[in-house]
Amino acid sequence: MKDNLIETAKSILDKNYREPGFTLPSQGLYPFQWNWDSGLIAIGYANYDLDRAFQEIQTLLDTQWENGFIPHIIFHGESDTYFPGPDFHEASLHPQATKKYKTTGMIQPPVIGFVLYEIYKRSSNKKKTLEFITQQIDKVYYNHLYLYTNRDPYKEGLVYIYHNWESGTDNSPIWDMIWATMDPPHYEFERRDTTQVSARERPTNREYDHYLYLIDLAKQYNYNDAKISEHSPFLVQDPLLNALLIKSNQSMIELYKLCGFGGDKIKQLEAWQELSIPNYEAKLFNSQLGAYVHYDLRNKRPIDMLTSSSFVALFAEIPNNEKASRMRRILLDRFNGEEMYLCASFDPYNDHFDPKRYWRGPVWINVNWMLYYGLQHYGMKDLAERIRRDSLELVEKYGF
Ligand code: DGY
Repeated sequence: MKDNLIETAKSILDKNYREPGFTLPSQGLYPFQWNWDSGLIAIGYANYDLDRAFQEIQTLLDTQWENGFIPHIIFHGESDTYFPGPDFHEASLHPQATKKYKTTGMIQPPVIGFVLYEIYKRSSNKKKTLEFITQQIDKVYYNHLYLYTNRDPYKEGLVYIYHNWESGTDNSPIWDMIWATMDPPHYEFERRDTTQVSARERPTNREYDHYLYLIDLAKQYNYNDAKISEHSPFLVQDPLLNALLIKSNQSMIELYKLCGFGGDKIKQLEAWQELSIPNYEAKLFNSQLGAYVHYDLRNKRPIDMLTSSSFVALFAEIPNNEKASRMRRILLDRFNGEEMYLCASFDPYNDHFDPKRYWRGPVWINVNWMLYYGLQHYGMKDLAERIRRDSLELVEKYGF
């Protein structure tokens, strides 16, 4: 990567760093700590400032609830540029919520297991890093235990989400299929995101009604998972989130071994892998589309649309070589038109594609990073290199 890009990236992280030790995903638009952003940011820090990487993870894990849950947003301070804030979420309704921080009552993709391994791989001080991992890893394990215990009602090894914000892919057209089954009230509220970026890139007010209604529903049940899974109209098994859970399980198996403890936990992680991987394959692979899709657990139907999430299984090394080759073909055939950068967040040939609105088309750099390593693993060096080149060119042309 060019030196000036690296320096710019570092200076952005520096400007976005906040006490008590976390990094904003973006000033104004995302003015707090976000779970998966923090994890991926920590990998960046591991390349040049190990202490910052540790701090980022430690701050996040310190917000863990008594039941192992790790929240999606931690509201470390006040901000008038973001809605809905902590007063709307009222996560403290859950009896086991952290008393120390204000948070949401939602999850985000469980990246920390594999993030710890990525930090270790990049670390210039392996001993110190293993000491840090030894202190933190059980918290991540208890988070996975929370997910398998509370978010997998049919014991399939596939975790559900009850809100689009839990997926990380906030405004994907996938959720339109769920909105079509709902008719929430019209809320009175003031949008703050559109004072920060163009409304053309953001969800509509009517979409926000759905988001707010799902939070209200969770609040009505004091964020009780069993009640939410019984009543929520939004209950989805997401191929991105579940691939990252599988990836993190695997990383934690390796890390416990490196740290030299956690025998029982390794056995449990292996048991989860034995359940999750075949069910991920059997339930989420769509052989017509040639990649993995979302499953609407509430209405018992697959959502047959391709997104960049459909390919993240490569990063988790889930498909066999034959399936992986098919996925490579689909990426080349459907996501690779004239003047197109890899990899659009949504199928460019689908009517719902929108090249401007977040997750309905625009490339998401973190997913590209995952695809790059996934393709490398399968020996698909050309396509991996193409994704790397496209990512860098986008950043060079349009900025971070
Ligand atoms: C938002 O408010 O758009 C966030 O992405 C939620 O995580």
